[in-house]
Amino acid sequence: MRKRRLRDLPPEALDGRRALVRVDFNEPLKDGRVADETRLKAALPTIEYLRDKGARVVLLSHLGRPKGPDPKLSLQLITRDLERLLGTPVEFIPDPHTGAAATRRLPRGGVALIENTRFWPGEEANDPTLAATFAALGDLYVNDAFGSAHRAHASTEAVAHLLKPAVAGFLMERELRYLGDALDQPRRPFLAVLGGAKISGKIDVIEALLPRVDQILIGGAMASTFFLAIGFGVGGSLVERDKEDLAKAILAKAGAKLILPRGAVVAPSLERAAERREVPSDRVPAGFAIFDIDETTRLDYRARIVGARTIFWNGPMGVFETPPFDAGTRSVADAMVEAGKRGAVTVVGGGDSAAAVAGLEDAFTHVSTGGGASLEFLEGKPLPGVAALEDA
Ligand code: 3PG
Repeated sequence: MRKRRLRDLPPEALDGRRALVRVDFNEPLKDGRVADETRLKAALPTIEYLRDKGARVVLLSHLGRPKGPDPKLSLQLITRDLERLLGTPVEFIPDPHTGAAATRRLPRGGVALIENTRFWPGEEANDPTLAATFAALGDLYVNDAFGSAHRAHASTEAVAHLLKPAVAGFLMERELRYLGDALDQPRRPFLAVLGGAKISGKIDVIEALLPRVDQILIGGAMASTFFLAIGFGVGGSLVERDKEDLAKAILAKAGAKLILPRGAVVAPSLERAAERREVPSDRVPAGFAIFDIDETTRLDYRARIVGARTIFWNGPMGVFETPPFDAGTRSVADAMVEAGKRGAVTVVGGGDSAAAVAGLEDAFTHVSTGGGASLEFLEGKPLPGVAALEDA
């Protein structure tokens, strides 16, 4: 069911009105400052549009997983970064229960930021009373927090039932378009590249993608569990031994659609990178562990990716935070950029893969801001934060 969008509201419905906007400013912090501004920047189009139309913008977000009020996770820490990005002062409101008057005093085009929604226990309980408190801070509700849309919380779900219109912001709309329509009606060949540590975290997405894709290329530590299922020795590689039968079942079901790495970069440990070498996948020596896909695989995956017309990627190919074991992940990113130049639709899931392409976002059709949310959406699970919005 299509959802009503911010762009569907006539501009006069915004002029002078208080727009309560749920954003996802759950950014990593370092020394009390935002270490990665991707999610702040991703929310700007919605905020700037509302300001331009004369709305008073009231922002709601969570940050981290506090068990109650925690100064280290106060959204006040991001106010200065937000002011710099928006080029306007941002009024910080420390308590939503007493904040309604301040939201009414905002000038047209003014911006306020409410304290971390998770400082109040009702948030994660999806409590209607806390949702009513949030609803009193606005005259309309915009959900632009795709990254939190898989959570049924007071600021993402319950509030949408209390404050109307309840519409999808530009980022939410964009995420649903590229993770939804673009992958539901893909231009073919349609390729998925899946990596990361665990099969267990990706099983549902593999199952959901199998009938839709032409091929799934596997990388990351997850590949080692498939090697184990085939009967290859995996040395000291990270594997999920209890998932061997699951891996066997997937291999049988997927047939030729599932492509495994031909070889690996192995080393005795991450610290002993100087002793690394490349070996075929069935020749991992005892005492060595797999940390990346090898060059043969990089070339193989590159050729497949560059030849595809829709590519979805989620999960690194190796230990990309620790060079030189980032080469496989970088080569997938490069191949996707090349495919994009040739007209392919290139979509990167959130989380680690988005971190691996940080700064290069413009070279892809879409880089999701949602980690867990993008996986749950691809698995076909309903996202409570989207379901609660008004139907178009
Ligand atoms: C995320 O970073 O995936 C979202 O902001 C949701 O955060 P959570 O996993 O703590 O609910």
